Amino acid sequence: MTMYNELVIPSIGLGTLRLCGEDCVSIIKKALELGYRHIDTAPVYHNHQDIRQGIANFDRQKLIITSKYLPEQGNLENACDLALRELGLDYLDLYLIHWPDRSQPMAEILWNMEKLRSQGKIRQFGVSNYTIRHLRDMLQLGISIPYNQVEFHPYLYQKNLLDFCLNHCIQLIAYRPLGKGEMLNNPLLKQIGDKYSKTVAQIILRWIFQKNIPTIVKTNSKEHLEENLAIFDFTLKDEDMLLLDGLNCDKRFCITRWADFDY
Ligand SMILES: NC(=O)c1ccc[n+]([C@@H]2O[C@H](COP(=O)([O-])OP(=O)(O)OC[C@H]3O[C@@H](n4cnc5c(N)ncnc54)[C@H](OP(=O)(O)O)[C@@H]3O)[C@@H](O)[C@H]2O)c1
Repeated sequence: MTMYNELVIPSIGLGTLRLCGEDCVSIIKKALELGYRHIDTAPVYHNHQDIRQGIANFDRQKLIITSKYLPEQGNLENACDLALRELGLDYLDLYLIHWPDRSQPMAEILWNMEKLRSQGKIRQFGVSNYTIRHLRDMLQLGISIPYNQVEFHPYLYQKNLLDFCLNHCIQLIAYRPLGKGEMLNNPLLKQIGDKYSKTVAQIILRWIFQKNIPTIVKTNSKEHLEENLAIFDFTLKDEDMLLLDGLNCDKRFCITRWADFDY
């Protein structure tokens, strides 16, 4: 649905963190059968080869495959070549810098992303976990950043970041939309779900969709795969969108030793 920066990123994609081996292969096959077309992975998920098996025999051109690069992997082109070999692909649709690392030459890495793009090894590049300041630093150097994949859900409604990205033609992509499942017991969300005869997961995913943000959600369950796609037959009213907006408490479920969110 989201036509931005050359790629059409489907509204609902499949996240694959903690999805490995046979489970990963069969969930991907099922997801493709149900209509998922965007698969998000990263070398640290250790599942490139499982994804390769899951997407084998599927029409490559219909898929959007995202993988990521961490500066500690060293040479960017070698890292990309490795990801392509592991995934069994000629090109990645989206290649993201997984985390900002200000001890590394981030601008140079982004220039090199452009080179990968001109070589046809990636269709688009972007970043992940960048704050407004990280983005501004790059924009000031004349580097455009088409995509920023960040944690985004009702408890972490990053409105300032979203507005900044909209103003600079940067497409946000929401990760961890369900807070790893930890928001699913929220009583207000349950009440809104009852009103629309939808589950809490569907209410959250719909809220993100109505903000025009594509998301990636992980599941190991075939029922949840179906449930998470069934969000296009209802519309949250403005007053309910505002109620979800109001749940923001700047709560992050994704904090790692690499995080640089205070910058
Ligand atoms: N760029 C980054 O730094 C970064 C960081 C974190 C994540 N990500 C990406 O974002 C993806 C999604 O984030 P995530 O995996 O951390 O968390 P998430 O998608 O917010 O939540 C996944 C959890 O929610 C459960 N779930 C999914 N659908 C459900 C439903 N309909 N009803 C009830 N429970 C449901 C899953 O359990 P079941 O498996 O039992 O359904 C799983 O425990 C990742 O897989 C990864 O691809 C990127």
